[in-house]
Amino acid sequence: KEKPVAPEGGFSFDGPLGKWDYAQLQRGYAVYKQVCSACHGLKYVAFRNLEELGYTEAQVRAEAATWNVPGIDPNTGEATTRPGEPTDYFPNPYPNDVAAAAANNNAIPPDLSLMTKARKDGTNYVYSLLNGYVDPDPEKLAKAQENGFETPPGLYFNPWFSNVNLAMPPQLYPDLITYDDGTEATVPQMSADIAAFLTWTAEPSLVQRKQTGWFVIAFLIFATGLAFLSYKQIWAGKK
Ligand code: HEM
Repeated sequence: KEKPVAPEGGFSFDGPLGKWDYAQLQRGYAVYKQVCSACHGLKYVAFRNLEELGYTEAQVRAEAATWNVPGIDPNTGEATTRPGEPTDYFPNPYPNDVAAAAANNNAIPPDLSLMTKARKDGTNYVYSLLNGYVDPDPEKLAKAQENGFETPPGLYFNPWFSNVNLAMPPQLYPDLITYDDGTEATVPQMSADIAAFLTWTAEPSLVQRKQTGWFVIAFLIFATGLAFLSYKQIWAGKK
């Protein structure tokens, strides 16, 4: 299994001075909506949270209405679907785990809300996994085949996945998406954008946490200075 790699140039929210790149988060949302949401839910994210990505309240209301969420028919009391509202959470694409497994070669696509926290170096992991469906190195493959290794039918080789073959087919192809901001939708670009978006879903307060850290350090320096000055004053004139 390969260690996750970062995209070229890293992410805007890396490091102590990191900030969200809102254009990138919006592109990542487009990838989620148009690709990943066919199989993966985002159960801890509500539509209203999208306001944090720079959308207005009216835009969020309109966006929520493009999704179908589980509902109850007021006349018959039967389960049905209705258009989403800002207070609804992103729906799971499958009615239950049995249906999810049946549609995916017995593997259940996990909820993605906290994926970047659930995996080690999660942001880079999501980037590497989505960008990482490669043909195996022919030399390594020949050696592996000598040892009886073969990717089983219905699974896909991906050196970043923990047991190397996973039930998720490759998802991203060049120009799969047309980005509103005109960014070219290369596979590494979409992989980085969805990795950034899923970092936000898992820790929306990441940037605020870093900024609070700076304030705390500044305050501690100030408090240290104050303590030193009062020490000076209290002991002034005493030998
Ligand atoms: C697993 C991301 C689209 C089916 C996963 C995992 C991630 C992920 C991070 C977990 C890997 C792990 O456990 O470490 C994404 C992203 C997508 C996407 C970002 C959109 C760009 C899809 C789609 C399908 C799908 C459209 C269905 C056709 C699955 C399945 C698994 C999985 C079945 C479980 C694999 C296994 O355990 O072998 N995906 N996914 N994914 N995904 Fe996706």
